[in-house]
Amino acid sequence: MTIRGGIIPYSMTTQNSTAVHPDIERVLISEEDIQAKIAGIAAEINRDYEGRSPVLIGILKGSVLFLSDLMKRLSLDCSVDFMCVSSYEGDKSTGVVRLILDLRESIEGKDIIVVEDIIDTGLTLGYLKQNLLTRKPRSLEVVSLLDKPDARKVRIEPKYHGFQIPNEFVVGYGLDFNERYRNLPYIGVLKPSAYEGQEA
Ligand code: IMP
Repeated sequence: MTIRGGIIPYSMTTQNSTAVHPDIERVLISEEDIQAKIAGIAAEINRDYEGRSPVLIGILKGSVLFLSDLMKRLSLDCSVDFMCVSSYEGDKSTGVVRLILDLRESIEGKDIIVVEDIIDTGLTLGYLKQNLLTRKPRSLEVVSLLDKPDARKVRIEPKYHGFQIPNEFVVGYGLDFNERYRNLPYIGVLKPSAYEGQEA
């Protein structure tokens, strides 16, 4: 096929983006399943927050893909802000949560929805909830795309969640290993060879 003017036909971009990365051992959740799940979560939030103007707080960096796909499906008058916390090095949680970037706006009296990529030990969300509640929001709920209940150390139940997954390290759709693989449109498990020489 001849590509004129450097424009790549839509069908080709779609095929390229769904080709499985060579470092991925298996796809755990497909792009289609992620998008269908997000549509369901958005419908719940649209219903629950009707007439209100929630603030979505995206937790960087892992939630960016989820947040943007979720926002596009919200019919509410919502706004967005970000926080960045870190507790992971490579594929291991250090157990110590550090606040790296704080909110720009006050959340006092507002309806807050924290948007997370995954709840693992629960330490990050435990820290965030405690921190945010001191700022006196009107309400505070959590939406997490993924949940690994078997890894939990702190009791956290998100109001909205997408998929419960087994206790193994996953990448893609915002989730990284040493900052790689966030751009994959699906969620997968890495081949052992992808970790070699890269342990933090
Ligand atoms: P928690 O504090 O152990 O619940 O971990 C929360 C954070 O750790 C998430 O927001 C992710 O950034 C990271 N994380 C936990 N599990 C995984 C995983 O399987 N892959 C990539 N990152 C993960």
